[in-house]
Amino acid sequence: MVSIQARVCIRRLYHPGVPSTRLATKCCQGTQDFKGASFWNVRSFHVGKESLEDESKDNTTLVHFRESKTPHPLLAKPHQQGNAELSISLNHIWSEEEIQERLDNLYQHRPKSLTDKIMHRIMWSLYRSFNWVTGFKPVNTPVRAVEWRLIVLESFAGVPGFMAAMFRHFRCLRTLQRDHGWIHTLLEEAENERMHLLICMKMFKAGFVTRCLVIGAQVLMTPFLAAIYVVNPGAVHRFVGYLEETACLTYANIIHQVQTKGTPLNEAWAHLRAPGIAKAYWKLSEDAMWIDALKCMFADESNHRDVNHTFATMNSDDPNPFVSKHRKDAAVAWRLDSQGLSADVGCHKTLEVKKKE
Ligand SMILES: [Fe+2]
Ligand SMILES: [Fe+2]
Repeated sequence: MVSIQARVCIRRLYHPGVPSTRLATKCCQGTQDFKGASFWNVRSFHVGKESLEDESKDNTTLVHFRESKTPHPLLAKPHQQGNAELSISLNHIWSEEEIQERLDNLYQHRPKSLTDKIMHRIMWSLYRSFNWVTGFKPVNTPVRAVEWRLIVLESFAGVPGFMAAMFRHFRCLRTLQRDHGWIHTLLEEAENERMHLLICMKMFKAGFVTRCLVIGAQVLMTPFLAAIYVVNPGAVHRFVGYLEETACLTYANIIHQVQTKGTPLNEAWAHLRAPGIAKAYWKLSEDAMWIDALKCMFADESNHRDVNHTFATMNSDDPNPFVSKHRKDAAVAWRLDSQGLSADVGCHKTLEVKKKE
């Protein structure tokens, strides 16, 4: 039997302008496949380029490729096709209540072992230096200081997860042994940080100095973390746990300032809409604001904090306790999408802003 994906691909050759969701629905009509298919099978159908940029294109009519202006589907590269799919994993869809609960409880791990204390000391030294370099202060922070801080922070935060996944992957290949489910969570974290960076880049640009800092942080910190990971993987997870604690503090502070009238961040950011890519990623409502995206970023960081502090306490051959959570998250995101619903993050505040406008 031809799979749903294969049928979608075949249809796409003839209807390049039609969104994936629609093709998938068409392909599944009259079959039992759609009901039987798990969300893993259909997850790629509804996170296409059209959902990131313009959901209104969903009304596209069926047009044969010969009559459309898009390049021939067999010759066109993915980005030249109107319905090119982006590979984005389905993130946890945060609710307003979950985010508020996490904002109210900024957990900080108390170092116990010598390794914990060393990692804690290194991380907080880096944090204070970073504050000094970026000119970050907790009150009335200049907008520019926050912008380049977020770009540097997010670009560096994507390193450890990917590096740890790489080490575990190679170890599996080398020792002919299984991974016990860690790699997926680590890659998911790396992708999540990369999405944070992409979302920030939609809101502000990186100058020359910021780009130098990004490169410097990657060049210096990657070998440092890799060297520690070879000897003591738990120490790196502990370090990342502390790094995420500082990220939580930063985001909580930024959210507070954006919501506090009279601050530079309130004036600059309170009225900004969330970019389309953020709305698609966290399933935010069409009216979502930039502050809603910041809240979701904060919640993601708190999740990284908890995951890494957990990994730090585990043996490397312990089964990953977060595997079932990924499945549940993907199911929730898929159901929201398939029912045309969105997360409740910031909805009432968004409405308040709309009324004043
Ligand atoms: Fe992040
Ligand atoms: Fe993070």
